[in-house]
Amino acid sequence: MATTSLLSAVSRRLEGKVALITGGASGIGRRTAEIFAQHGAKLVIADVQDELGHSVSQSISSSGAENDVTYVHCDVTDENQVKAAVEKAVKSFGKLDIMFNNAGIIGDSKFRLVESDKDDFERVLRVNVTGVFLGIKHAAQAMISANNDSIVGGSIISTASVSASLGGTGSYAYTCSKSAVLGLTMNAAVELGQFGIRVNCVSPFVVATPMAKEFTGFSEEEIESMSGEIANLKHVRLKADDIANAALFLGSDEGRYVSGHNLVVDGGMVIVNPSFTTLQQKN
Ligand SMILES: NC(=O)c1ccc[n+]([C@@H]2O[C@H](COP(=O)([O-])OP(=O)(O)OC[C@H]3O[C@@H](n4cnc5c(N)ncnc54)[C@H](O)[C@@H]3O)[C@@H](O)[C@H]2O)c1
Repeated sequence: MATTSLLSAVSRRLEGKVALITGGASGIGRRTAEIFAQHGAKLVIADVQDELGHSVSQSISSSGAENDVTYVHCDVTDENQVKAAVEKAVKSFGKLDIMFNNAGIIGDSKFRLVESDKDDFERVLRVNVTGVFLGIKHAAQAMISANNDSIVGGSIISTASVSASLGGTGSYAYTCSKSAVLGLTMNAAVELGQFGIRVNCVSPFVVATPMAKEFTGFSEEEIESMSGEIANLKHVRLKADDIANAALFLGSDEGRYVSGHNLVVDGGMVIVNPSFTTLQQKN
């Protein structure tokens, strides 16, 4: 009996927890929803792609999580919709333990400053920055009031990018937006620590999602081989599962002392300039 419950704690690392995932209909968010559900989380999937969101929710339900997953339409740029999505989690499942602010857009593929368009710049910031700000704000409010101001906690995770740490890897709007996610993460971690709420972000290198395919114009195979070749770590290809597993760690009790951290999942890409290292590299 004791062995069974130990195994269950190891294999279902989010048992009893309630998570809300924005951008959960596709790519990284979708994989995270599937993996969180496998680990026993109750889920609210929030997105603007309703048909896709419902089908992800139904597919998770039919794989054994019946009544433990629901979809809500939520445009993260709209404060009322973000508030309503958080309220849906609390109403459906009694609380909110994990908020994953993952929804994001890439914006126009324009890489020269003079060609960059103000409307596009502001649109990207609205989704990638204002959306994360609103997600952190309303999740924190729900976590604090559920705990009656006592020290119980919660975990807020946002998706940044390697573009937040390495210049020239995204458009002006995208790089700027993802750097702002680091700023939001640090500030919120400082303020919310007093309530036992942890605030972190994950920063992926390139993952073969619909966004990355649209941005690069490459196939899934080409994107994956890029992650295996460009990063410092060779022979490993980055998958959406790797980002979902990073979020799983930050959301679970295994990450209980980690806050204010940017968990970069990039095969060591941002720590080295390959043309300027004293360490021997195999050609
Ligand atoms: N794929 C990569 O290479 C990569 C690398 C670094 C960071 N990221 C980040 O990962 C996150 C997920 O992206 P992805 O690659 O899975 O792309 P994706 O396009 O597959 O998924 C993004 C999801 O966000 C949703 N979304 C967009 N605008 C929204 C809004 N206003 N409100 C609610 N939902 C909205 C989309 O409908 C979509 O389902 C994004 O924040 C992205 O910037 C991706």
